[in-house]
Amino acid sequence: MPSAKVLFVCLGNICRSPLAEAAFREAAAHAGLDVEADSAGTANYHVGEPPDPRSVAEARVHGIDITSYRGRQLTSADFHEFDFILGMDRSNMANIARVDPGDGKAKVAMLLDLVPGQEGREVADPWYGEDDGFRATWHEVDAGARALVAALLDEHG
Ligand code: 4NP
Repeated sequence: MPSAKVLFVCLGNICRSPLAEAAFREAAAHAGLDVEADSAGTANYHVGEPPDPRSVAEARVHGIDITSYRGRQLTSADFHEFDFILGMDRSNMANIARVDPGDGKAKVAMLLDLVPGQEGREVADPWYGEDDGFRATWHEVDAGARALVAALLDEHG
């Protein structure tokens, strides 16, 4: 049984949350932790689409191929399926709350709240920015992913 099932959520599921999923899979594998991970968007704009080419390129810099990822929209069933649902910014958190059925098992939080000293910080949306925004996005989601792996390792000894 995996130690945790984690869903990363942003708006479009093509920029930030696929990178968060990739960073978490990598950090968990490195730590020898058996996890399941997925990502979703609160919007349906990019359902069925691969990640943004700028996210694909940034993941590749870190040796990770995310070209097989496909966009999907967050559903209320996800709150029963996943142990953690982690949004990137406050707008995501508000959208996530609208889908929350209220009786799920998922712990819902903003990703950087898991990082000591970065509580309350948002992972900024890089969609409208320059390509180097994706490098910053990687560093932010990677910090969140590593903090979650550390917390899971603590929990599972
Ligand atoms: P993401 O970025 O939420 O990090 O995937 C965005 C992707 C697409 C759009 C907005 C944000 N969009 O408006 O299509």
